[in-house]
Parts: sequence; C-alpha cells; structure tokens
Amino acid sequence: MSNSIVVGTQWGDEGKAKVIDWLTLRSDIIIRYHGGANAGHTVIVGDEKFVFHLVPSGIMYPDKVCIVGNGVVLDIEQFLSEVDDLQRKNISVDGRLFISDLAHLVLPYHKVQDASSESQMGIKKIGTTGRGIGPAYADKVSRMGIRVGDLRNWDRFIAQMKINFDLKKQIVELYHHPFELKFDEIVESYRIFQNRIGPFILDTSEYLFRAVRQGKKLLFEGAQGTFLDVDHGTYPFVTSSNTIAGSACTGAGVGPTLINHVIGIVKAYTTRVGNGPFPTEQDNETGEALRSFGGEFGATTGRPRRCGWFDSVLLRKAVQLNGITRLALTKLDVLNKLKEIQLCTHYEINGKRSENFPTNPRDFEKAVPVYETMPGWQADLSGCKKMSDMPSAARNYITRLKTLCYDVPLLLISLGPERSQTIELEKL
Ligand code: GDP
Ligand code: IMO
Ligand code: MG
Repeated sequence: MSNSIVVGTQWGDEGKAKVIDWLTLRSDIIIRYHGGANAGHTVIVGDEKFVFHLVPSGIMYPDKVCIVGNGVVLDIEQFLSEVDDLQRKNISVDGRLFISDLAHLVLPYHKVQDASSESQMGIKKIGTTGRGIGPAYADKVSRMGIRVGDLRNWDRFIAQMKINFDLKKQIVELYHHPFELKFDEIVESYRIFQNRIGPFILDTSEYLFRAVRQGKKLLFEGAQGTFLDVDHGTYPFVTSSNTIAGSACTGAGVGPTLINHVIGIVKAYTTRVGNGPFPTEQDNETGEALRSFGGEFGATTGRPRRCGWFDSVLLRKAVQLNGITRLALTKLDVLNKLKEIQLCTHYEINGKRSENFPTNPRDFEKAVPVYETMPGWQADLSGCKKMSDMPSAARNYITRLKTLCYDVPLLLISLGPERSQTIELEKL
C-alpha cells in the first residue's frame, strides 16, 4: 500500500482504529500525528479488546514500527500505562515504538486547568474529555510548553515546570477552583518517567524521511474527526488540534508530496460525544436503538454517545477538507434491525435549501435536516464476504450514501468490530 492518511469524517469514533488495524497489514510504519489521550481507539482481536489513547493502533502486529509524532500532546503517565498493558499481554514494543522529541507534554496541571475552565463555563462548557488537551495545546502556541526532548536536561525541565506550575495554580485559584497538586510529587513521578521514556525518544521526522527512502510504507492514524477540527469544525465545540488530513504533515514532520491517499472513515450513521450542534441527532427511541446496537459509549470517558442519522452535508464537506480519495464505511451492521433508515441529503436554513456545510455557527445551529427514507434490510450481515452477498436494500443504502458523497470510491465496508468482519473492495 502507498502512504496513506486515515481521518475521521464526522465527530470522531467512526471506527478508525478497526480500519487502521486492517490497513496495518499493508503498511510498515503507523504514525499518530495530532491530539492526545482524548482519543479512544478500539481494536478487537479474537476475545481481546485493546483501547489505545496514545499508542498507535498498528502496534498489534509485531513487525510494525509505531510513532507518536511531534503534533501529539503526550501524557507520559498514560503512554507508559499503555506500554505496560501491552507488555502484560505479551506484546513487546521494544525498538519499534518511538516518540518525537518535539511532542509537547500534557502535565498534571493541564488536567486541573481543563476541569477548572469547563466548570467556569457552566452550561456553555465544551464537554471535553478532561485529558488536559486544550490547556496543553494553548501552552504550546503560547510558547511556554514543555516538550518530550526537554526531559533530557533535568534542571531546565524542572525550572520551566515550576514557572508553569505556579502560573496555573494562580489561574485556577483565581476562579476559586481547587488546585490540590503538589509540585514535589510531580517532580518525583517525572523522575521515574524520565528514566523510562528515554529509549522511546527519537527525531521521528528524520526517521520517517530515511524510512521512505528505503521504500517503507507509512500509515498516518488520525484521531477525533473532521468536525472537531479547531479551524473547520463546529467551533467552539471542537478539540484543540487540526484533525483534518493536512495536519498529518506538520504533525509528523513530513512533506505533502509523500502522501498518496487520504482514507475517510465514515460510520453508517452519526455520533457525537460532548456538547455542540448535531442536526441529525435523534434524541428519541431511534437514537437509543443506535446507541444500544452500536455500543455507542465513549472509549475514553464512558459517556453515552449522542446518536443520529447519516448526514451527507457533513460528509461532502469532509471530502473537500481532507481531499479524501477513498471512503471506508463502518458499522453498517448496526442498522441491521431497522425497518426504515433515514439519510440527510441537505439542510434547510432560514427556509432556504442548503447543500453545503455553513461556516457560520449560527446558521449551523439553525440547520433543519431534510431526509430521504430508505427501507432497511432487517437481516444479519455478519456472514457477508462480498458485496453481492448483501441484501439489495443494504446495497442500495451504500450506493445512495456514496452518490451523496461525490461518488468517492469505497475501499472497504466494515460489518463488525473484528478483523474478519470486513469486506475489502480494493487493495491500495
Ligand atoms: P475510533 O475512535 O474511530 O477508533 O472508534 P472507537 O474505537 O472509539 O469506536 C468504534 C467502536 O465500534 C469500537 O467499539 C469498535 O470495536 C466498534 N466497531 C468498529 N467497526 C465496527 C463495525 O463495523 N461494526 C460494529 N458493530 N462495531 C464496530
Ligand atoms: P477519537 O480519536 C469523539 C470531543 C470531546 C469534546 C471535544 C473537546 O476516539 O475519535 P477535548 O478533550 O479534545 O478538549 O474535548 O472533543 N472529543 C472526541 N469525541 N472521539 C474522540 O476521539 C474525541 N476526542 C475529543 O468529547 O466534545
Ligand atoms: Mg474513539
């Protein structure tokens, strides 16, 4: 397979990890390039379930190299706990898991600041994962962040952390929120982390450049989804990184000329965790059915995901923003029992037809979805190994969905969480 970027086309949790695990078979190096431990990526292998927050989902294959790029904000404690979990399951990461020295750290005070700012916003809160993502990225662009590579110089690391710690304490206490962290305790735990993290630190951009020259194939693992992008998403109800394909280059330190494909992961319906507008949301029995059939509970926070119908307005915008060359359709099986399925073809905004995603958030809040109703297939798809095995109603749904998304070709269709429950339509 050529070098490909995998992106979520909705609000995250599209099943990216399942597809990445599948595509890893045809890649050599898997790279996370943005976000942090707010991601929850689930891979099911046989009876075992693995949920990754920071380690790339390709780690399950012992001959693959995995990289956490400079664009990620790294919570070392979480990272090391994932490494320990893998080792307990006899998956060794030695010599094949690396972190960019330029990645910024998420420190304990970022999580306290995240909680404090959410609480300060009251009903206007974002509904973050509480993983300190926003404050860590804010420090990065404010040029006061601390990077993984800074751990190489302990005295400088401690001095910078002390300045930041004191500042965060003042900010949080200004709002009369609790700040119970002890600086000395953080120093003590980072002393241990410093010793353990050393072997993982690498100039990953240099590593990737050389690997490509040797003919290695790269797979960039996106986190979150297009509409959580800090610029193009449903601001302010977004995450704090660029989630779209363009950020793979800056977040991994590679040039755009390396990229051959952008694979958009699209769930057969829509979900969202946290606050913010969601035109096709079904806050009713249909939404409950989707949540229960699809197991739609957050892989990071356990929160019930808000569920609704497929929204082609979002998908068309996602195709544009990411330059998607292939779509991977996931969780089609979740619709198995439904008598009728609705698909949003366009919106009405202030009484006017709109085929396009409105950049004005006030317009998006007012968008009324217009649906097309299609008959369900009411059959189990789990035994289907090729398109022609599927009932015609399922094939019609897929065809309609694809037509509404500029007819971007489908790479695969996922019919269940396991590796074998995948229909591959093309080998890239
Ligand atoms: P990600 O964040 O995009 O990687 O997705 P998550 O792991 O947060 O959520 C997707 C959930 O759906 C996980 O529990 C997967 O095991 C599961 N899943 C993935 N693909 C399919 C599928 O095709 N059908 C079903 N039923 N479940 C799936
Ligand atoms: P994966 O990679 C779904 C959402 C949060 C919140 C908003 C901001 O598993 O698809 P943050 O903690 O990032 O500041 O929260 O973004 N969010 C996600 N929703 N899947 C994710 O990741 C998410 N990562 C962040 O729920 O609404
Ligand atoms: Mg997820």
